[in-house]
Amino acid sequence: MRIFKNKTDLIAYVDALKSDNKTLGFVPTMGALHQGHASLIRKGLQQNDVVVVSIFVNPTQFDNKDDLIKYPRTLDSDVELLKEISEDNIIVYAPTVYDIYGNDVKSTPFVYDGLEHEMEGKFRTGHFDGVGTIVKRLFEIVRPDKAYFGEKDFQQLMIIKKLVEKHRIPVEVIGCEIYRAKDGLAMSSRNTRLQPDYRKAAPFIYKTLKTAKLKFGTKSATSVSEWVENQFAEHDLLDLEYFIIADVDTLKTVKRKSNKKTFRAFIAVYADDIRLIDNIALN
Ligand code: PAF
Repeated sequence: MRIFKNKTDLIAYVDALKSDNKTLGFVPTMGALHQGHASLIRKGLQQNDVVVVSIFVNPTQFDNKDDLIKYPRTLDSDVELLKEISEDNIIVYAPTVYDIYGNDVKSTPFVYDGLEHEMEGKFRTGHFDGVGTIVKRLFEIVRPDKAYFGEKDFQQLMIIKKLVEKHRIPVEVIGCEIYRAKDGLAMSSRNTRLQPDYRKAAPFIYKTLKTAKLKFGTKSATSVSEWVENQFAEHDLLDLEYFIIADVDTLKTVKRKSNKKTFRAFIAVYADDIRLIDNIALN
């Protein structure tokens, strides 16, 4: 398996692949790879000759210093997992912060037609500027035909589609279904940091989302939201940061239900100091 630590070598390698008419899939990650990532990579391998997996904990998208410091970094086991998927057709790009940012570790401001002001944008200042900065740079380095993103970060997926459209980046962005543990918890690199009692409690998030979906069939968005807030108010271990029912096109909170629109429920919860997000399609 080829592992590149600097962009110059990767760019030359990608040039050679392209002149060989190979198609390139791309799965950007922050490492601590799990079966959710594996499912994106497997999809990439089905649809492309080669898949580039980037492993880079991007400092500019963290609004919380502690979260950045504690974010799991497990390059060796990540590479092992990738080798189990394919020894031959996966390329790893695991750059240093310097390789990406030089001495200027800053994000650039991005405008995504208002998508950036909702949910994660409200609660994590500057997060989507950091995501836009890194994803745009990675797209410029890797130059993939297709790029794969999980729907767990649904807002991120929408924002990256917008980024590609606005900056006319020639890549097809493909959203992939949320990959869940058997007990329903959405796979996340942060799950590895959950202490056993919090890990045991965490499937309550998806269980609540599923019930909220059922309730949304007959009740208003406001009353479903109140019901969810009450569920978490009574919970000993999980703290609700937000629960929002939003229009999937604008990500704006729904005021009134309509048969013509598609809605999704989004949730962010703290399990101790670990922030977990999830979402579910409602109609
Ligand atoms: O979803 C992630 O892991 C990150 O936000 C991404 C897309 C790799 C950018 O750092």
